Amino acid sequence: MHITSLSASPSERSRSAWLTQFAMTRLEGRHGRHDDVLVRDLPAEALLAADVQHPAIAAAVQAVEAAELVIVSTPIYKAAYSGLLKVFLDLLPPDALRGKLVLPLATGGSPAHFLALDYALKPVLSALGARHVLDGVFATDAQLRRHEAGGYVPEPDLIARLDRALAPIANRMRATQEEAALC
Ligand SMILES: Cc1cc2nc3c(=O)[nH]c(=O)nc-3n(C[C@H](O)[C@H](O)[C@H](O)COP(=O)(O)O)c2cc1C
Repeated sequence: MHITSLSASPSERSRSAWLTQFAMTRLEGRHGRHDDVLVRDLPAEALLAADVQHPAIAAAVQAVEAAELVIVSTPIYKAAYSGLLKVFLDLLPPDALRGKLVLPLATGGSPAHFLALDYALKPVLSALGARHVLDGVFATDAQLRRHEAGGYVPEPDLIARLDRALAPIANRMRATQEEAALC
């Protein structure tokens, strides 16, 4: 399965980007190709001018279009997804997510905003044609403690919720591998 992850935090040491990479490790390498789009690394001028001809922007859009599963991760800013995420999503063609699986992930400072994925992000994903949106996973900063060696330490409850959200993908990959082994 071709997976593209879209991480949209402006922070260098981003919890939501770390959670995205952690989600990939939970799939235990069973996926096929993986493209990582870090929106903060895209050229800012081209991004803000919606210059979809710019090679870096075009490659990022193409990575989303080619994916079977798109992992969309964002920090919660002012009770919604980040502006960086919206700037990138606005560059995608209409229906860019149709026929794809989408996994929304978010981290936020306050549990009060755990519904932001549902009330803010999901309507945008739907407008882009997404019809197969997996259970979103929201983590508070307290559930992702900083590790002194870098990275974060996820709480067991968060790992359980992430595994539950990933279960349909893991099952599909397992079935594909079993089918391939029989051929
Ligand atoms: C400008 C700004 C606004 C924020 N607004 C919220 C908010 O409304 N609700 C919330 O739960 N956390 C809020 N936070 C906290 C971040 O969502 C939280 O620290 C998150 O884990 C950051 O993710 P990142 O490390 O991937 O950037 C805000 C942080 C910043 C910098």
